[in-house]
Amino acid sequence: MILVTGATGNIGSALLRELHECGAGPLRGFTRDASRATFPEEVEAVEGDFAVAESLKPALDGVRSLFLVSRMGPDADILATARQAGVDHVVLVSSITVQTHPHLAPARENLTVEQLLKDSGMHWTILRPTQFASNTTMWAASIRNGEAVRAPYADTALPTIHPADIASVARAALTEPGHQGRTYALTGPEPVTARQQAEAIAAALGRNVPFIEIGRQEARTQMAAVFGEDSADAVLEVTGADVNDELLAVRDTVSQVTGHPGRPFRQWAQENSHIFR
Ligand SMILES: NC(=O)c1ccc[n+]([C@@H]2O[C@H](COP(=O)([O-])OP(=O)(O)OC[C@H]3O[C@@H](n4cnc5c(N)ncnc54)[C@H](OP(=O)(O)O)[C@@H]3O)[C@@H](O)[C@H]2O)c1
Repeated sequence: MILVTGATGNIGSALLRELHECGAGPLRGFTRDASRATFPEEVEAVEGDFAVAESLKPALDGVRSLFLVSRMGPDADILATARQAGVDHVVLVSSITVQTHPHLAPARENLTVEQLLKDSGMHWTILRPTQFASNTTMWAASIRNGEAVRAPYADTALPTIHPADIASVARAALTEPGHQGRTYALTGPEPVTARQQAEAIAAALGRNVPFIEIGRQEARTQMAAVFGEDSADAVLEVTGADVNDELLAVRDTVSQVTGHPGRPFRQWAQENSHIFR
């Protein structure tokens, strides 16, 4: 039995579909609201909340492999509960910032979770993705309303990743030998700027999407309202204010692990254009 957490999210929903399609055996999806979850048939939906680590116990019954999105709940308790339940292998979504920006608070938290997992006695595979293509959904309301996208660091090109590629690597790690004890830094196949992302969304919609570059202060105010000030500062550092060669590098880990090239941002935009209509 494989338990997928974050099962309604960007990675988890793609992962459940892929595991189901490849006949990976019995699957469970963990969600706070099973009535809203649209899992493939035969996937068992289990309700629970990370905030209540005890609510994971029934979901972990009989589970050998766990896909865990980090920092959504008390990770130390979640990992302890998984170990007690007899989980053998955990595939953890961490972040590339653990190696590119180890001084930032979210990166330090991710490194702590990685170490907890390594010390847990369970087998592990750690995924360290860069920023997701799906982060552009924060522009959805503006684009739907015909307003301009307002974003900072317009021409900083980062190798943004399609969440389905993270899911494909997770699927390989969960179902194929050779991935335990491995840490994979994951990026998309090419660098793309915020301005080019808006252009790709415009192309997918078949209409113009105006773009206005804004300064850090305006961006910080926008983001702090959603994520809080500390996270807003960290996001601004890693999306433009403090990029480094390690963050800018395009890696071929996705194709090495899955045998398929990573999906470019324009593909994500085509597949998700409904979000912006
Ligand atoms: N965005 C980026 O650029 C980026 C970069 C590097 C790493 N990451 C990491 O990627 C992960 C996020 O992945 P994602 O984009 O696939 O997630 P997502 O689309 O934001 O979805 C979040 C998922 O977590 C579940 N969730 C949230 N709070 C929960 C709780 N209290 N209890 C149980 N489930 C809860 C939600 O499920 P329900 O609502 O159904 O309960 C949902 O399925 C995080 O670990 C993040 O640190 C993100």
